Amino acid sequence: MSNPTLIHHTINFVKQQLEGAEGGHDWFHIQRVYNNALNIAQGEACDLLIVQLGALLHDVADSKFYNGDETIGPRVAREFLESHSVNGQTIAHVIAIIENISFKGGNFEKKFSSIELDIVQDADRLDAIGAIGIARTFNYGGFKNRPIYDPGIAPELNLTKDQYKASAAPTINHFYEKLLLLKDRMNTATGRKIAEGRHRYMEGFLAQFYAEWEGEL
Ligand code: ADP
Ligand code: NI
Repeated sequence: MSNPTLIHHTINFVKQQLEGAEGGHDWFHIQRVYNNALNIAQGEACDLLIVQLGALLHDVADSKFYNGDETIGPRVAREFLESHSVNGQTIAHVIAIIENISFKGGNFEKKFSSIELDIVQDADRLDAIGAIGIARTFNYGGFKNRPIYDPGIAPELNLTKDQYKASAAPTINHFYEKLLLLKDRMNTATGRKIAEGRHRYMEGFLAQFYAEWEGEL
């Protein structure tokens, strides 16, 4: 099967897998991450097929929506790629991307590294910040029935992976626990540049939010 045909099949598979997904982790999230990844990849020497497959399959069965089970996503992706006779080396690399892409709180070292993972991770992180990031975050908070903001509950920096995952904190706290940390963790020059603009936009949003909370402006 040619690469364009494989990508076409992958897109259809992912759309079908994510039918009815939470609004921040649906097909449109994947589409934005895919486009971000193609954009970033233009500035890097990389294996484009691995970037494309990694971007398309990175959230195919997110553990958050499967009782924390981190094995389902890689397994679903592997079965799909094997059924399309993708070579073993490519499959192993795509699975490593899926297993290592995710932000797991402040204290998590990634064990695998490649330029293709760097690109897909930046592409995913860009979709977590800026206007889209704000929209996704409040959508997720609503999905989990969390308060928007509670001035009595401070953000927790330096969360371990398990604490980060178990957090039921107000949605505004997620800005401090994750979103505002991403700008300084970008891997690529293109990603870093785009992240800076999106970061400033979130800072402006927060300033306006607190001013309105106090009845100012
Ligand atoms: P990652 O794949 O980097 O672990 P997640 O899938 O956890 O990222 O998060 C993706 C997006 O989902 C976040 O950027 C945010 O918009 C939303 N989200 C995830 N966890 C939370 C949370 N605890 N509170 C609010 N939004 C969240
Ligand atoms: Ni994602």
